[in-house]
Amino acid sequence: MTHRIAVIAGDGAGPEVVAEARKAVDALALDLTWNELPWGTEHYHEHGTLMPDDALHVVRAHDAVLLGAVGHPSVPDHVTLWGLLLPLRQGLDLWANLRPARLLEGVPSPLAGSPAVDMLFVRENTEGEYSGIGGRAHRGLELEVGIETAVFTRPGVHRVIRYAFELAQSRRGVVTSATKSNASRYGYVLWDEVAEEVAAEFPDVRLERVLVDALAARMVSNPLSLDVVVASNLFGDVLTDIAAVLQGGMGMAASASLAPGSGTTPVFEPVHGSAPDIAGQGIANPLGAIWSAALMLEHIGEPDAGARVLAAVESVCRDGMVTRDIGGSASTSEVGDAVAERVAGG
Ligand code: NAD
Ligand code: IPM
Ligand code: MN
Repeated sequence: MTHRIAVIAGDGAGPEVVAEARKAVDALALDLTWNELPWGTEHYHEHGTLMPDDALHVVRAHDAVLLGAVGHPSVPDHVTLWGLLLPLRQGLDLWANLRPARLLEGVPSPLAGSPAVDMLFVRENTEGEYSGIGGRAHRGLELEVGIETAVFTRPGVHRVIRYAFELAQSRRGVVTSATKSNASRYGYVLWDEVAEEVAAEFPDVRLERVLVDALAARMVSNPLSLDVVVASNLFGDVLTDIAAVLQGGMGMAASASLAPGSGTTPVFEPVHGSAPDIAGQGIANPLGAIWSAALMLEHIGEPDAGARVLAAVESVCRDGMVTRDIGGSASTSEVGDAVAERVAGG
């Protein structure tokens, strides 16, 4: 059966890295079609919206979305992200955001002694601090107010924690739950209670509850003590930029936005943004986008193809055929070519 993949290359470095991810997938010669959706900041300047009104409908007609990044200095970020990325995640109810962080051989570590890094983040992806609920009043006056409400629902928290436990069963069997249930006393206290309830159903997995500030420190001081980390939308967002650096840099990190157990179209994208500071120079690291494509293949029923792409990523890292951010001198497309060659040969 043909796999129908929608491509939202987006802004800045997004199209540069997505092109390389596509090369890697094309090298597999699968029965797969790409449908480019020209959504993003240019669409906004032309039509006044980041994507068309029927965007969710369009996306649902595909098996997966491969996304680059959105965000451009010409449009305020909250307009861009609430015009495309967040409505996709919320509208498709893609409640789990998987972010593997593994330091590959050959990639320089920022930490002394280069300790092993192999963590899997499971970020809640539709509610929490990014629910989009709030408002502003008394604009421009001295008493102006901005309110941003964090929303934690029992089913929303339960499903993401349960998923983290299921994933931990086939890893090292530890789930670390990140909260801030000392200063916050409602949402995260509910989160902790649900975590304990889920843990009781998984005697083979150990739960540890860690306050997010201490966890941020532990990621750096003792990364290998962490296996699966489950976190709210905001905490997962922040912690996974730290995790990206622990695996070499922003350009290395991959992600999958999923609704496990449903038939909903998932979205695969690198963790990084549109990198306006380096966009257009041909130096962006495409490996996070390529790794995201490997996750995509795994989730659309092509696990062997996904494993081949990941093996090719590992191979270019071992050989130092990489961009300057991780110690090489290759361009974005040279790295993409090297990965594609190895995929085709492997
Ligand atoms: P960013 O991730 O784009 O950049 C942070 C730093 O990482 C920069 O120094 C950048 O050069 C570097 N970097 C990022 N990707 C890289 C790559 N592939 N190779 C090498 N270096 C890379 O984050 P930012 O600067 O905070 O955000 C820029 C824009 O992207 C903003 O508009 C933001 O809202 C948006 N953004 C979008 C997404 C998304 O679409 N998924 C994610 C994060 C940020
Ligand atoms: C990410 C990004 C997004 C997020 C932004 C751009 C809305 O930072 O995917 O990590 O916070 O989810
Ligand atoms: Mn982020």
